[in-house]
Amino acid sequence: MPAFTEAFIESRDFKTELSASAASAFVAEGFDASVGRVNASDRPDLADFQCNGALAVAKAAKANPREVAAKIASHFDGDTRLDKLEIAGPGFLNFTLSHGALSDRANALASDPRIGAPKVAQRRKVMIDFGGPNVAKEMHIGHLRTAVIGESLKRTLRFLGDEVIGDAHFGDWGLQMGQLIVGLSEEQPDLPYFDAGFTGPYPAESPVTLADLGRIYPKSSARIKAKDADFLAAARKATKELQDGRPGYRALWQHFVVVSREALKRDYAALGVEFDLWYGESDADPYVEPMIADLKAKGLLVEDNGAQVVHVARPGETRKKKLDDGSVVEVPSPPPLLAVSSEGSAMYGTTDVATIVQRQKEFGPDLSLYIVDQRQAEHFEQVFRTAYLAGYAQEGQLEHAANGTVNGPDGTPFKTRDGGTLKLGDLISQAVEKANARLHEAGLGEGLSEDAFADTAHKVAVAALKFAELSNHRLTNYIFDLDRFMSFEGKTGPYLLYQAVRMKSILRKAGEQGLAAGLIAVAEPAERELVLLLDGFDNALKETYLKRAPNILADHVYRLAQGFSKFYAACPVLVGEDAALKASRLGLVSLTLRQLELGLDLMGLSAPDQM
Ligand code: ARG
Repeated sequence: MPAFTEAFIESRDFKTELSASAASAFVAEGFDASVGRVNASDRPDLADFQCNGALAVAKAAKANPREVAAKIASHFDGDTRLDKLEIAGPGFLNFTLSHGALSDRANALASDPRIGAPKVAQRRKVMIDFGGPNVAKEMHIGHLRTAVIGESLKRTLRFLGDEVIGDAHFGDWGLQMGQLIVGLSEEQPDLPYFDAGFTGPYPAESPVTLADLGRIYPKSSARIKAKDADFLAAARKATKELQDGRPGYRALWQHFVVVSREALKRDYAALGVEFDLWYGESDADPYVEPMIADLKAKGLLVEDNGAQVVHVARPGETRKKKLDDGSVVEVPSPPPLLAVSSEGSAMYGTTDVATIVQRQKEFGPDLSLYIVDQRQAEHFEQVFRTAYLAGYAQEGQLEHAANGTVNGPDGTPFKTRDGGTLKLGDLISQAVEKANARLHEAGLGEGLSEDAFADTAHKVAVAALKFAELSNHRLTNYIFDLDRFMSFEGKTGPYLLYQAVRMKSILRKAGEQGLAAGLIAVAEPAERELVLLLDGFDNALKETYLKRAPNILADHVYRLAQGFSKFYAACPVLVGEDAALKASRLGLVSLTLRQLELGLDLMGLSAPDQM
């Protein structure tokens, strides 16, 4: 059982309120409260909301659904929120809100500093493990995905009231460290770090640059892939010596970490992604030995062909496996966690379990979310089960919020033309270049200073990349298509920014004319629709939170931008003699902009002032 129930307060929206009223009406008529669910209408031309509960209960009650619906409707007699409540077809209840109720809601949202966002009922401490970059290995498009989704969830959970700690969980401890040490020792054998007797001094300036790492790492990986046994053995040995504390290797490793981390932080900053912690896998290292001892003491560690494993499958959880000789056997599923390899090394899973112990001790999170590729699902299943078995966390406190892959046009994981993975830094510069071109093509940003134009282009580029991620469900495999992401039309980041800039410019012009936003009084269909959209923010945020799914927020923000566009086409804001009308419409523009900008911020985007 999770230690917490996820509930919200300070939340109000028509859907929830009407559902509550309908539920009590059903209860009063002797039915179950759960059928009183009210949803947005399937026919927005006929009504705002609908409830199908009468149809659901009539059959079992051997009653006429239209009669049941009429009884439920009678409970809404005199309800000032409603303009009308109709019984349609076989027994649907169709709710149409009054202008007054919508105006009141709009004004309430306008005076709410949270613009309709809910708050969690119980503040939790949540750790979000995302990004997951590695020393020396360049970040690629897959790392972009976890960074963007993680950043958005971090911001959303925090805004809804949780205490959130975002950890990069820097990959600074595996075999790649040994690879780099050996690779470097071949290139620059004269560096003092390779002397077995090295004890310092430790130069503050790194003799190793990012370019060195970028050259050595791919070369060494290629040798491992090509099964260069000598190299692999040397890399393993160096890794082990590093982990055992050989001073020269430690000093070198420190350089690798610093150089990589600085470069990574630069790329992340350009994307508006920020971590509260840059703990590395190495930071869990001191926890590994005592943890192994503890697992042993608890009888969870089992010898298996010279290695030490933890069995995590429950009785009966098996899958079929084909052996080399063609025979088929049943093996436990998930397979056991490899805690200590036959060479005596701690593995990726060991580090992750030790990290849980460390986080528990240092932070005591109520919930840990891992925003990591779906292809690591089994790994996390092994890690979480081990942690639960050993009592390092309570069932439900560890959660893998997995993400799918970013594919190329051929449907396989995205590659550059030369077959390599596209590096994050290159990707960002490509996007900025494209944003520049698009702005010029569209005749946008012409009056801007050079700096302001560059800032706008950067914001457009980031919005294009991030919104493309966020508008898909995190598990969806989607196709990377920078041209489409960068369009000012359709469901794209640049479209959202463009609508925000239009709103800003209306408000700026209004200011120049001495006009100000005032009390909102809705009357036109497009105004009603816009207020209903604004009212849906609460629910969109709750769903985003509960499902760890920023695409729900992304969808809300997109529909809001569309709703504004429709409103602006139908309802002139700055023209005419009616001062109250102009003030009301300006009020609606200002409210919409505030909610849009909050939504953008929770996705990690920001709109320029001008374009
Ligand atoms: N560094 C890993 C990778 O690039 C991801 C780390 C994810 N987080 C974790 N706690 N294992 O695949």
